[in-house]
Order: sequence, then structure tokens, then C-alpha cells
Amino acid sequence: MRVDVISIFPEYLAPLDLSLIGKARRSGLLDLHVHDLRTFTHDRHRTVDDTPYGGGAGMVMKPEPWGEALDHVADQEDSRPILIVPGPGGARLDQSLARQLAAADWLVFACGRYEGIDERVYDYAQSTYDVRVISLGDYVLNGGEVAALAIIEAVARLVPGVIGNAASLFEESHEDGLLEYPIYTKPEQWQGFSVPDVLLSGDHGRIAQWRHQQRLDRTAARRPDLLPPELAGAPEDLVVGV
Ligand code: ADE
Repeated sequence: MRVDVISIFPEYLAPLDLSLIGKARRSGLLDLHVHDLRTFTHDRHRTVDDTPYGGGAGMVMKPEPWGEALDHVADQEDSRPILIVPGPGGARLDQSLARQLAAADWLVFACGRYEGIDERVYDYAQSTYDVRVISLGDYVLNGGEVAALAIIEAVARLVPGVIGNAASLFEESHEDGLLEYPIYTKPEQWQGFSVPDVLLSGDHGRIAQWRHQQRLDRTAARRPDLLPPELAGAPEDLVVGV
């Protein structure tokens, strides 16, 4: 998968050299390019923002550097990339959207700052990109870089080969709509807290049943909105395993 990120703070993307994503880059599974938006300015101050037409607080990112940057990136390959503009006004990222994006060959991230990017850039980009605005959640960050990092990590780990143990991908929160069960490792006793007996029993049937019940209980307690409709609203002690 190819990933391009355009930002006025390219250094923000440095963590993508670390851990499993860094390894995927070095092995060629992930072809990542970070571009400094200011490279596409032509004035002495390398200006990327200006005041909003119609008034209002804050600054707006100018269309010209964005237009040039997007043209430059689109010229790198023949195919039509997905352009992701992270922003609180976008569609909420979830595991199913991450899976959909993981199937793409090429993602480009346009990281806005200030109040955002001149709206005409979105219209302009449609001729060469499949444009998507994606939000991490209902809160406001200072810019798109942190969101791009999160989206890239959520997506890249689903690209075959990026996670060594592919089985672990199927046993995690959100993969089948429920949260994950609690996990434990050695020692058996720690600070007066014990590992649940069932996990030491060696009875795989009981362990699977216990884990399933824990997932239901956890989801009911922490994220009742995720429960299937037939279980939603049921008192916790009625949420039984299947
Ligand atoms: N940029 C600013 N806030 C954001 C959010 N909640 N999600 C994605 N990008 C953002």
C-alpha cells in the first residue's frame, strides 16, 4: 500500500518510523511519503493561510499550495488515490471503515490546520481523488496530523503481513462488534489480585464460555450502544452467553 501525507508539520509523522508500521515501511509493505505543504508556496514567507472571506475567527488554509501539492502527489502514480482529509466534521472512523481503507492501494492524507482548508480544494481534488473527510470522534484536535497517525495505524495493521500473528486481528475489540475479554499473564498472584480460576482450569470450553460472557458484560457496561438490539437494554445479569 502507498500512503502520502501532506502537512505543514512533517515532523509530526516521525512515529511512523517506529514499531510495526516502521517495520512494514522497511520491508516495503508500506510505501510512505511525507510532504511539506510549504514546498508548494512561492512567497518569501511560505504563506499557507489567510483571513476568512465573510469574517470570523481564525485563519483558513489557502487553496493554491494545496492545489499544487495534490497535483504533485497525484502525478506519482497512474491510479486514482483516496484522499483522506481528517476533520471533526467527517464520517466517524470505525473498524469497518478501517477495513475498507485497508483494501485500497493508495491513500493520501491532507492534514489541515487553523480553521481548515478553503472549501474549493475539496471540489478541485474530486477530479483526481476519491475524497473522504474522516473524523476520529466528536472532539476537536489542533490539526489533522494526529488523526492521520491514528488512521494510518488502524488501517496499516490490517494490511496482510503487517501484523506477524494474523490470528490476533480476529480476537480484538470491534472486529465482531463486541469489546475484548480481559487478559492476564504470569504471575498468578500479584498485589493481592488473582488470575480468575477458570483461566487456570485447562478446560477450553469453559474458558471460551467465560470469555464470551466477559465480552458481553463489558460491552453492556462500557459501550451499550454496540450491543446487538436483542441484548441492548437488558439488565446486565440477563446478558447471557450464546
Ligand atoms: N482534526 C481536528 N479535529 C479532528 C477530529 N476530531 N478528527 C479528525 N481530524 C480532526
